[in-house]
Formats: sequence, structure tokens, C-alpha cells
Amino acid sequence: MGTLIKGGRVVSAAETKAADVLIEGETIARVAPAIDAATHTVVDAAGTLVLPGGIDVHTHLDMPFGGTTTVIDFALQSMGKPMTEAYRTWRAKSEGKACVDYALHMAVTDLGPGDTWLDDVDAMMAEGITSFKIFMAYPNVLMVNDRTIYKLMERTAKLGALVCVHAENGTVIDAIVQEALAAGHTGPLYHALTRPTVAEAEAVHRVFALSELAGRANTYIVHVSCEEAMREVEAARRRGLPAMGETCTQYLVLSLEDDMGKPGFEDAKYVFTPPLREKKNQEPLWEALKGDVLQVVSTDHCPFRFADQKTLGLHDFTKIPNGGPGIENRMQLAYHHGVNAGRVTLERFVEVTAEAPARIFGMYPKKGVLAAGSDADILIWDPEADYTIRAATQSMHTDYSIFEGFRVKGNVRQVYSRGECIVSGGKFTGRAGRGQYLRRGLGEVLA
Ligand code: URP
Ligand code: ZN
Ligand code: ZN
Repeated sequence: MGTLIKGGRVVSAAETKAADVLIEGETIARVAPAIDAATHTVVDAAGTLVLPGGIDVHTHLDMPFGGTTTVIDFALQSMGKPMTEAYRTWRAKSEGKACVDYALHMAVTDLGPGDTWLDDVDAMMAEGITSFKIFMAYPNVLMVNDRTIYKLMERTAKLGALVCVHAENGTVIDAIVQEALAAGHTGPLYHALTRPTVAEAEAVHRVFALSELAGRANTYIVHVSCEEAMREVEAARRRGLPAMGETCTQYLVLSLEDDMGKPGFEDAKYVFTPPLREKKNQEPLWEALKGDVLQVVSTDHCPFRFADQKTLGLHDFTKIPNGGPGIENRMQLAYHHGVNAGRVTLERFVEVTAEAPARIFGMYPKKGVLAAGSDADILIWDPEADYTIRAATQSMHTDYSIFEGFRVKGNVRQVYSRGECIVSGGKFTGRAGRGQYLRRGLGEVLA
């Protein structure tokens, strides 16, 4: 006896069709029209869309929610310590806590004496970590130099692994930040004003040059925030490089004009990196998603609290923890501002929120598609649901929302994770610790 999701329209990146979905155990047994109810438990999905569970490939997280059934978080290598130690630390951190399946990227900060920790790349691959993150920003904390990027890329190019890059010229940004502080500009708005778009675009350009020098390493630019940076991804793809990228919900729906310049210290809620950009960047980013210049929408979810964490930077914007919460709202916002607004098709919405992430990060077809044999990670999506985003009613462990008051049409009604209904009627019915660590294979380059 299984669970039969009956009467909905099943969506993939390729098509939308009327079909039933039969779940047996943790996986999908069949997707077909009019499956006989027999002895199955029937879930009435009439009037809904049945979608593959969302995959958020860029989180720094505590607690996942909102139609996302898989996350890829970052294990962060400490300078002076090998990657293997970071891997053990991050696996231990998630033990007993993960509500949905999760994987890890390895954030590389140090290649070790004589570059010996480059061999950790191979060790990480054996543990199912096939993507490696580097930061070109945050000097003295996370930033790596071009030599490190080049050496890492040489190794990953040989192995077919992926390098994910936070692309901003950290050294120059640091100089601009010091100039702003010296001039007495200490408020949160200056976080945005000291990180110009050209500093992002220059770094993106450099990444692809280094990839080429290192033997055409597969590269994925995280959180592309502006048109100039996106055009560099476009140019690299045109040159035939294995270049891909994501943008995040905040860059698609928030802007410098609308969301910064609020009274008091409110702007600190929007201090993330890259910062909010001028509104004119939004439509080109949507176009880039539509036209496959960018392949993924993620969140860069960082669940800081306003009351006791963001306020650390009350008198100096450089001390405000960088990042904002958003994992819960990714599917809602991408659907409403993408599909309802006619900017992307329903199928492309599924592609950028589930299928492409699964393909690029080596989880397809276990994740990212509703097909026989795939994990039963399924969203029953009500396209008519009317929902207003409010911090007071959200499930994320934060005391504010960067999307406060945003009204969306379309929301998740039920969420299945490996066959178990874990969200129903807006309530989490799963259990912390049920999420499994995913050993990923090599991903695809979506050319
Ligand atoms: O502001 C952000 N994005 N914080 C998280 C770290 C990063 O840069 O992704
Ligand atoms: Zn980043
Ligand atoms: Zn991030």
C-alpha cells in the first residue's frame, strides 16, 4: 500500500501534464495518468500543481522550510586546518538536526604547507563533496588569492569537480570601506555603497580567466547580483567555457532604492554581500534566468537575528553580520514574481528551483524530478493560495523578514520528503534528525 497523489498537474522542466504520482516507501513508484486507487492512501491534489521538492544550493543554515526538501550548505575550512577537519565538524553539526536531506560544499581557505591539502579535494570527493567554494571577498577571513584559485581549479579540472565562487574584488572593496569609515560613514547604507557592481563584475571576469588558465575548470558563480556581473557569465558561456551561475531571490525582488535608506538602523536587515543593487538590475537578472545565462535561484540564507546579532554593527557597518534569511520564501517569490508575472514559464520555474540544481550538483535524478525511482520529494502546490510574508508568522529562526509584507499568490500546501509528509497546512510535522546526508556524484555542466 502506497500514497497516491491524485488529480494534480505534474510539472517538470520539460512539460506540465495531468498525472497521478504513486509513492511507495521513500521513492516514487509511478507517474502516470489515472493510477488505480486500489489499497493506496489517496491524497486529493485536484486543482494543484505537483512539483519536485525545491533544492536550495546556497544556504548557511539552521532550519530549512517552505517547500525546499534538499539543501547544500557550506563546510568551512578554517585557515591552518585541513579540509577533512571541516568536513567532520560540519557533519557533526548537522547530526540530529537536519529536517530534510542535505549535502555539503567545501569552502576552501587554505591549501596547506606546500599545497599538500590539495589532496583533501580527492578525499572530499570520496565523501560525496563534489563542489568547492572559494571567496574572493572578506580579506583576512575567508578570501583566497589568485594562486590558490588557480591551483584549486587545476585539481578540480582534472577531477571534473565544480568550483563555486563568491566573486567580488575583496582587496579593493576593503580600501573603499576604509575610506568610507575615515570619512565618518558608519551606517548600514555604506555597506552597499562601498561594494560597487564593477568590483563584482571584475572578479567574475577574473574567475573565468583563471578557469581557462587552469585547464577549463567547471565554474559556478554564486549570488550574481547585478547586470554587469551577469554579462561576464554570459560572455564566458558564449566563449564556450564551462561557466554557470545563480542569482538569489533578494536580488530579484528587493533593491537599493526600495529597501535601503530606511529610518534608524533598519537597513542592517539588508546587509548582505553582494549588497542590494539598483532596481534597474532586476529585469536583466530575470531575463538571464529565462535565457539560461543563469541556471539557478538560491537564497544564500543566513538566519541572523536583528535584536542581538545585526545590532553588533550599530556604530560601524563593517561589524554587522553579513547575510539575510530567505529559505522559506524562495519558492513563493520565484513563483509569484516569476511565473505569475510572466517572466518565466512554470517549467522554467521548476528547472531553476529544482532540476538544474540537482543536475549541476550531482543529485539528479535522485532529486529534482518526479519520476519512477526518484526520491519522493514532492510539493503539492496551490497556485491560488494567497499569502503575506510576515516575520511574526514565519518558521525561520529569525526575528525579522527581508520580505516583510510581500504578498504572493501560490504556496505550498503539503511537502513530502522521501515519502513522508513533513509539512501540511503550514505546519511542520516532520522531526529534526530525519534528514540524511547526501553523497553527491559529479554534476553536469549545463551548457
Ligand atoms: O552576506 C552574505 N552573503 N553572507 C554569507 C556569506 C556569503 O558571502 O555567502
Ligand atoms: Zn558569498
Ligand atoms: Zn553564501
